[in-house]
Amino acid sequence: MQRNPLGKTEISISSLALGTMTFGAETNKVDSFRQLDIYVDQGGTHIDTADGYAGGKSEEIIGEWISQRGKSHAITIATKGRFSPPEGSAGASRRSLIHSVDASLRRMNVDAFDLYYVHGWDPQTDILETLQTLGDLVDAGKIKQISWSNVSGWQLQKIVALASSHGLPSPVALQAQYNLLERGIELEVLPCCLENNIAVTVWSPLAGGWLTGKYAANERPADHTRLGEDPDRGDGYDYRNTERTYTVLRLLQVIANDHNRPITHPALAWAVSRPGVASVPVGARTVKQLEANLAAADFFLSQEEMSMLTQASALEALPYPYNFLEDPCGMDIWKVLGTRQVRNLAN
Ligand SMILES: NC(=O)c1ccc[n+]([C@@H]2O[C@H](COP(=O)([O-])OP(=O)(O)OC[C@H]3O[C@@H](n4cnc5c(N)ncnc54)[C@H](OP(=O)(O)O)[C@@H]3O)[C@@H](O)[C@H]2O)c1
Repeated sequence: MQRNPLGKTEISISSLALGTMTFGAETNKVDSFRQLDIYVDQGGTHIDTADGYAGGKSEEIIGEWISQRGKSHAITIATKGRFSPPEGSAGASRRSLIHSVDASLRRMNVDAFDLYYVHGWDPQTDILETLQTLGDLVDAGKIKQISWSNVSGWQLQKIVALASSHGLPSPVALQAQYNLLERGIELEVLPCCLENNIAVTVWSPLAGGWLTGKYAANERPADHTRLGEDPDRGDGYDYRNTERTYTVLRLLQVIANDHNRPITHPALAWAVSRPGVASVPVGARTVKQLEANLAAADFFLSQEEMSMLTQASALEALPYPYNFLEDPCGMDIWKVLGTRQVRNLAN
């Protein structure tokens, strides 16, 4: 499996990470262990979790797996704190973060996290307090690299500027929702990441299941699917049940048929090949889904296919100031492509 640099660090992480939000929830412990084994056997090196997933069970399951199997140095583990920790208080204050990190380390049976995400902006806490706390956690050896998730462009730029002016650790990664149906980060967050060499890791690369083609217009989502169990989960069924979604799905199906691949492969390959993206965590309820998604690791789109998908899924009706200039984000993101993406596109 291809590996990419994690921003400005020496660390490299695999282009497909293992998303573990289903562990302890839709996926029981036995199948979670199987997913972890399969992922590592196939050369995967990056495991993504959070303290709030399944009330801490996701971290516990991974911790138990690490205790039984051991953790190779090649594997990097990322967890997150800020929202609904199993115990203690939510937020990014000094007290909350220190408590959350210690609790996550205990649950996962590790001494340190390779990557620790603050799961989202905390308006109740002075951002400098959060950054100083993260710096102290790095100094204490409990976190190796810091990162953020679910922040806006100005928030991320402020984090970078404050970290730089106070000599504190700067974020090396940013995790955001990014897929063919959700491209909002291209306006501010992705350019900010490119400008600061911050690696983008992606959540919901299949738009929570929409890009598998399992949801259809005017049809109640089937039981035992994410939206069948909760139609309001994530962006919700109604939000994505639009003509734009079905246009993208039709094009994905054409490309998938041309290559004799499942529809998920061009969807994942698009996300993997976007500028700045270092790793795409694949989330799966079942072992079968995971195996199908990991098989996308050797699939790359042609430049023409990338362009067709990018056009079909273009952001609609941009507000000012994004509609004022020809290039909405003020940065030709293709110009800053590294050799990695160029190589992918040539395949
Ligand atoms: N930072 C954040 O705020 C944040 C937020 C969300 C997720 N994440 C991370 O990102 C990871 C991925 O997010 P996600 O789970 O939303 O990703 P996703 O790939 O968009 O959706 C995964 C879901 O789609 C369905 N699916 C996946 N592969 C399939 C296949 N081959 N055939 C049929 N259905 C398939 C399964 O749901 P059903 O079978 O249940 O329908 C699966 O649970 C998470 O595990 C987590 O690590 C981070």
